[in-house]
Amino acid sequence: MRNRHLIAIKHLHIDEIFEIFEETKRIKDLTKKGIPFKPLEGKTLGMLFSKSSTRTRISFEVGMYQLGGYPMYLDIKKSLQMRHGESIYDTANVLSRYLNGIMIRTYDHSDAEKLAEYGTIPVINGLTDLFHPCQILTDIYTIIEKFGILGGIRVAFIGDGNNVANSWLFGAAKTGINLNLIIPEGYECKPELLEEAQQIAKNTGSVIQIFNNAAEGVKDADVVYTDVWASMGQEEEAEKRNEIFSKFQVNRALLENASKNYKVMHCLPAHRGVEITDEVMDDMAHSIVFDQAENRMHVQKAILYLLMGEFKL
Ligand code: CP
Ligand code: NVA
Repeated sequence: MRNRHLIAIKHLHIDEIFEIFEETKRIKDLTKKGIPFKPLEGKTLGMLFSKSSTRTRISFEVGMYQLGGYPMYLDIKKSLQMRHGESIYDTANVLSRYLNGIMIRTYDHSDAEKLAEYGTIPVINGLTDLFHPCQILTDIYTIIEKFGILGGIRVAFIGDGNNVANSWLFGAAKTGINLNLIIPEGYECKPELLEEAQQIAKNTGSVIQIFNNAAEGVKDADVVYTDVWASMGQEEEAEKRNEIFSKFQVNRALLENASKNYKVMHCLPAHRGVEITDEVMDDMAHSIVFDQAENRMHVQKAILYLLMGEFKL
């Protein structure tokens, strides 16, 4: 990897994305065969959280352990002195003296950028209000596993123009996936992000289109993807959003518009019966949500290895 950090997909060169995927395949195969691979022995990852997590925490923690390293969970709001106002600058400098890498999940994206800028060790973004790069890299890896190709694949993202949608913009633009964004008026991705992704897409052949009508946006999609309508930090808006987003639910009727062999993805956690129905989540002929969740660990092991490991096998 040329990048020392993984803060946003837009910073990654396409070669780095495919390097992550190649290592993911190799490391996943070893894991499935029960062959130990411990290139991070003696290394410690600090995992800083100021938001909840099931997948990100556990997949990073187990992944780091399987790579021979030590994962240290650090609650920003409860245990770190950041809670009492210690600056990111001081925190980054001190943590760089103890740790070999940092994973951070927080609200303000600039906090993750500052940690990377001020510290001397790799920083991985485990979700901010702006981006969720590990999730979308995993999603694209999962699409390759399921479809065998990326070129010509059409992903329909339906729901909120949030951190997941923002990362999809750059994931699709960089890898040549076609992306339909189906987002209610007033909740779209920021125009400057869309513009930036469109510029990248010009060079890769990715076509990014915006729809207001759910059925039109899902038409002939290979992947129909959704996320919660109210993200962490927006809990108070949930009721209002549930009303505004009600025509954007992923349900059986909507999926009749998708391609014949469509797959359904959701980064999880899902609010069943809200943005997606039980019937769709549990239709294992099409739903790949749990394969997607599993792959978080395999992809992140590759990222940890590439950013924190000194020697390859
Ligand atoms: N998809 C995802 O990041 O899940 P968690 O919030 O459980 O980590
Ligand atoms: N958009 C969601 C993603 C959760 C993984 C959130 O930020 O809460």
